[in-house]
Formats: sequence, C-alpha cells, structure tokens
Amino acid sequence: MNFQAPEGTRDITPEQVVLWNRLEKAARETFSRFGYEEVRTPIFEYTALFHKSSGETTDIVEKEMFTFGDPEDKKGTYSLRPELTPGTIRALIENQLFAKKNFWKVWYLGPAFRKERPQKGRYRQFTQIGVEAMGSSDPLVDAETMVLFAEILKAVGVTAWELRINSIGCKECRPAYREALKAYIRPLLGTLDENCQRRFERNVFRILDCKVDAEKLKDAPKAMDHLCPQCKAHMAVVEKALQACAVPYRVDPRIVRGLDYYTRTVYEFSSSALGSQNALAGGGRYDTLVGSMGGPDVGSVGFAAGVERILLAMGGEAPPPAPDFYAIAAGDVARDEVFKTVMALRRAGLSGDMDFEGRSVKAQMRSANKAAARYALFIGPEEAQKGAVKLKDMKDGAEQTVSLDEAVRKLQGGMTA
Ligand code: HAM
Repeated sequence: MNFQAPEGTRDITPEQVVLWNRLEKAARETFSRFGYEEVRTPIFEYTALFHKSSGETTDIVEKEMFTFGDPEDKKGTYSLRPELTPGTIRALIENQLFAKKNFWKVWYLGPAFRKERPQKGRYRQFTQIGVEAMGSSDPLVDAETMVLFAEILKAVGVTAWELRINSIGCKECRPAYREALKAYIRPLLGTLDENCQRRFERNVFRILDCKVDAEKLKDAPKAMDHLCPQCKAHMAVVEKALQACAVPYRVDPRIVRGLDYYTRTVYEFSSSALGSQNALAGGGRYDTLVGSMGGPDVGSVGFAAGVERILLAMGGEAPPPAPDFYAIAAGDVARDEVFKTVMALRRAGLSGDMDFEGRSVKAQMRSANKAAARYALFIGPEEAQKGAVKLKDMKDGAEQTVSLDEAVRKLQGGMTA
C-alpha cells in the first residue's frame, strides 16, 4: 500500500528546503534590522480565541477551522490556528509583557491551518511569516510593516509584486459607511450570489471581496470617501511615508480583508508570478482588538505572508550549497582512514562528504562533480601512511599533495592550491 500526504498538505523536499532557508535567513535578518523580536506560540488554541478575534462572520471561523476535543469540556474545544495574530496577542497579554513595555514589535514563523479547497498556492497546512507591532497608533508603523515586507522580497529576489492599500475607517466613520454600502447594495441583493446575500446582514463589507459579482459592485461607495478627518489624516501619513521610502503602491477600494478585526489601514501584496492565489501577504491595523481581548487599549498593526507562495514566486528549487571537499578513497586504502580524515576536516569547520557505498574511484569522482565540491581529496595507501592528502582543485584541475594541516589551511582560506 502506498501512503499519500493528507489533501492540502505538502512535503518540503531537500531541494526546496534550500530556498526555504534562504527566505527564512533573509527574513530573520530583516526583522532584526527593523527591531522586531521573535515570538513562538502553540499551533492550537482554545477555539473561543478565534471566535473572539478573527471574527464570527469570517469564512475562516465559519467553516475553515480544524476543531477537535471534547465539546463538553468546560474550557471548550481546541482549534488548529488558522492565523497567528490571535495567539500572538494572547501570548503578550497572558505573559504580562505590556507591563514591561508599552510598545512591542514581534515577528513569527510557523504553520497555520485552514480547511479550504486545495489548489496551487492554497493549502490546508501552510506557513505564515509575519509581524505584529502592538502599542502604537502612529501611521508610520503601518508604513514600516509594508517597507519591511518589501525589503524581504527584495532580499530573496522577488521583484514582480504589487502593493495595494486602502483605509476602511474606524469605529467613528465605519457605521455611516456601512449604511451607505447597504443602501447601495440592497436593490441589487436579489441578483447577487448566495454567499453575498448571506454576507449582507452578517458583514456587508465582505461583499466587496466577492469574485463572482465584482462587475455589479464596481460603482459601490468607497470607504475612502467616508473617512472621518482623523482617518483621512492617518492615511495621508501612510501614503507619504511609502512615497518617501520609494515603495510603490496603489490605493484600491476593494481591499477589505477577510478578517473582522481591521481598522483604518489595510493592505495586500500580490504577485503576478502566481496564479489565482496571488496574495503574497496581507495585513493592516487593528486598533481595538488587543483591548477587546483583555489587553491594554492600544493601537496595533501587522501582516502575515504565506511562505509557500513566496517560495513559488522565488522559483521553486535551488541546488544545495557547494561543499568544500569530497574525499575519495583511492586504491587499496582502509576506509576508516578516509573517514578519520573527513572527520578531522569537518571538525576544522569545513564541509564535505565521502562515499559510503563502496564505489569505484571513478564513481566517487562523479559524486565530487555532482556535489560541486571545491576540491576532490584523494586518499590512497601512501597518503594515509604519511598523514597527507592529494588535493585536486575542481575548477582548474591542479593537483597537489599536502599534509592534512596544510589541506585544512588551504580549504579554510578558500584559496586555489
Ligand atoms: P490572511 O490574508 O488571511 O491574513 O493571510 C496572510 C497570508 O497567508 C496570505 O496573503 C497568503 O499568502 C497566506 N495564506 C492564507 N491562506 C493560505 C492558504 N490556504 N494556503 C497558502 N497560503 C495562505 C492573516 O492571516 C492575518 N493574520 C494577517 C495579519 C497580521 N493582519 C494583521 N496582522
């Protein structure tokens, strides 16, 4: 019997891990340059956390969570996290971190789970990398998170991206916009698809997200036209900061986001290198969420990006890093002699390997080539006896017999023998 991975999950093969690590390294370096600290939280939480934060009326909470446990349990069921924002906020509140400082900039990387219909770029287990800046209402922080993600994309060589931003207002101006939107949509309601009809009462803003009836809604009132003066001023600062940092963006009134907690700025990075699942990252400001979850009443902003989608945009696979050497057992030499030499080189900080399949010198040479080793390192009975090795520079073919110490020096220096 052949086993298959569960639907919507993927294996990351060694070839793909190389790219993954490149992305993770670039992201870690960028987060650290921008002053963000790493946080790690459980991959499952009490289900109630997501109802309270992600929102009762979102697709994610309504139908996409993997929920388990005993419904009779006093503390309720558990759900695999569909996003990392709620757990991150819970962790900061629960660990009383706001007592230590008012403003936290944290980042995270880890799996998230959504019971969606799988397709290219859309999985049931995927990986989010993201930030949450909690404790400031400064619009410059909104801009900082966007510049930060653009920097990560630059560091990994993804150039085909677009940033679209919008403001959805605050608790002062949003109710009037909600009414204006409802008044516009009400006469059209009978002609809209079933999903939109359901959203009308539960969360009318999500109708703007509708892919099916987009054309019918193209003249719908825009949140940007209903902003209060404070929200307008906030958006103006965000835009000016993006311009000052030369981060290209477009204001798009259709960006409403699929989660309930947003206020003011919302944004999405997408890539033309991807198919229909083209969102690389999404985020925005959530000024009331931390307070509503029992934390201080502070403004916050963040984003999350899909690692698998960034990897797709980066182009799939990459060769593993080239090793310093490949050791070849030449002639009638005891293999434990070769093993000893390889270990001495590795302990000196060099990378390399040897044959463990008892193959011919020719086949071992093929392995050295395939691994793209900088040096082939021949050890025959004579070399073994003298504690020496024959180095072959794989670039120019030059050969030289040297002591083991000298070989270490040469390889460490990266110099051609
Ligand atoms: P989101 O837009 O739901 O936002 O997800 C963020 C990113 O996760 C998406 O842009 C996409 O790249 C990736 N993603 C989402 N679902 C899938 C999937 N099924 N398969 C593969 N990738 C996926 C959030 O999750 C918010 N927590 C972002 C945030 C942080 N807002 C404020 N702070």
